[in-house]
Order: sequence, then C-alpha cells, then structure tokens
Amino acid sequence: MSPHVLILGGTTEARRLAADLAARPGVRVTTSLAGRVARPGQLDGEVRIGGFGGAEGLTDWLRTHHVDALVDATHPFAEAITVNAARAATAAAVPAVVLRRPGWRPGPGDSWHDVESLAAAATVLPRLGRRVFLTTGRLGLAAFAHLRDLHFVVRSVEPPEPPLPPDTEVIVARGPFGLADETELLRAHRIEVLVTKDSGGEATAAKLTAARELGLPVVVVRRPPLPDGVTAVPDVAGVLDRLGFGGP
Ligand SMILES: NC(=O)c1ccc[n+]([C@@H]2O[C@H](COP(=O)([O-])OP(=O)(O)OC[C@H]3O[C@@H](n4cnc5c(N)ncnc54)[C@H](OP(=O)(O)O)[C@@H]3O)[C@@H](O)[C@H]2O)c1
Repeated sequence: MSPHVLILGGTTEARRLAADLAARPGVRVTTSLAGRVARPGQLDGEVRIGGFGGAEGLTDWLRTHHVDALVDATHPFAEAITVNAARAATAAAVPAVVLRRPGWRPGPGDSWHDVESLAAAATVLPRLGRRVFLTTGRLGLAAFAHLRDLHFVVRSVEPPEPPLPPDTEVIVARGPFGLADETELLRAHRIEVLVTKDSGGEATAAKLTAARELGLPVVVVRRPPLPDGVTAVPDVAGVLDRLGFGGP
C-alpha cells in the first residue's frame, strides 16, 4: 500500500517537500494548514485545513488516516503545534521528522540585540530608535501597544490584529523581498531600528542586509526551543533521507 506522509505545513520548505513527495509514484502526501492565511497558494498533494484539537486530536488523525510518517515542517515560532506533533507521533507510534530551516546569525558589521520574546523586544526598543520597522508577524503586537512615543511601520502577510501601538502604519505584503526594495523601504520611512523574529531562510533575509548597510540596529527575537528529545533536520533533503527517500 502507498505510504501516507502527513506534513504539518505553513512554510516554503513544507511546500517544497509536498511537491517532491507528490511527484513520487505510490506516495500519498497530505499537507495540513492551520487556516490562518486566507489564500495559502498552490500546494501539491492533498490539503487539509484547521486545527486537530490538540495532541489527542492529532493522534486520532494519524491513526484514522493511516499515516506512516509525520513531518513537522511548521514555522520555527509555531511552538504549540510542534509540541503536539511530538506527543502525537509518540502516542500513535508514527515515525516523525522535524524540518527547521537554520536560524540567522550576525556577520561583521551587524548590530543585533538578541531577546527572548516580543515583550523583551518592546523593552529594549525605546533606547535603540524612535522609528521602528516591525516584521514579527500580525499576531502578538499587543506587546508594543503601550509604546506611544514610537512610530511603527508594521509589515505582515495579513492585516495585523489590534491592539496595536497608536502610531502605526501597516504594510500588507508577502515575501520574498529583495535588497533594493528593503533598502528603499527603510530609507523612505526613515527607519531607525528593525525588529524581526529569527525566522531564518532567504525570503525575508534581505532586510537584515539592508539594515547592516544602513548601519541600523536589529532586535532579533530568538526561537523557542524544540521539545525535549526532539532534533531537527535543516532542509528538505534531510527529511527525504530520514524518510528513506534519499540517495541518487
Ligand atoms: N508563528 C509564526 O510566526 C508563523 C509564521 C509563518 C507561518 N506560520 C504557520 O502558521 C501556522 C500557525 O502558526 P502558529 O504560530 O499560530 O501555530 P501554533 O501556535 O504552534 O499553533 C496553535 C494551534 O494552531 C493549530 N495549528 C498550527 N499549525 C497547524 C497546522 N500546520 N495544521 C493544523 N493545525 C495547526 C493547532 O491547533 P490544534 O491544537 O487544534 O490542533 C495548534 O495547537 C503554522 O502552520 C505555521 O507553520 C507561523
């Protein structure tokens, strides 16, 4: 019988993995999306949308749909689903792989300030600049809502949810973003400090280069840790290897 792979998606890597697996004869692949984005874009293979109902719900889904392997290819900051996936894979005795693109690392000329949370980012911001480019996503902006004296330019894929800081401009846009455009954006809005999560990947990395070239500080929210005992592979090739599809 065809092996059935469930990918927990929402990332570029999940999309690439689905395309690779769907092109293999005899492999059934289903991508699961949380349903946060209105138009998630084309995905190869089957797609299901919406939460499972916690680790128990995911365990049931793995059993009911005869899943042979689970790939957690969710975003590095999607902490709850990663915990649930690890629990469900154990409970249903389904082999699991976590795909996490490597995090960003500062290079010469970077002025990065690592913090553990959005709240910690809000604490350091006022001493770094008054005009802020905030690219941490549309959720969690309440952490900055009390910063009345700062001007925020918020960029997110979907419009952000209130509460927001009172002086906020919103740019709704989806990457990838190029260096020339990012530099122009920082200049046009007279940005003094950038805030980002350590998402990693190339699609949104140009803002870091632009900030370095303009001599701007960057506040980097570090990733939540993986659940105990869980290790990750950094790319699609690593997942294919672990699933036994690797090699020439
Ligand atoms: N967090 C980010 O910065 C970010 C950025 C880009 C993309 N994403 C993507 O957006 C999705 C949601 O992220 P999040 O940070 O809100 O997640 P989260 O906090 O880890 O998950 C919250 C709940 O959403 C449901 N869920 C999350 N991912 C799911 C998936 N792939 N399929 C089905 N249900 C899912 C689960 O509900 P139940 O408990 O009911 O199963 C989970 O408990 C993820 O798939 C992630 O890859 C997140």
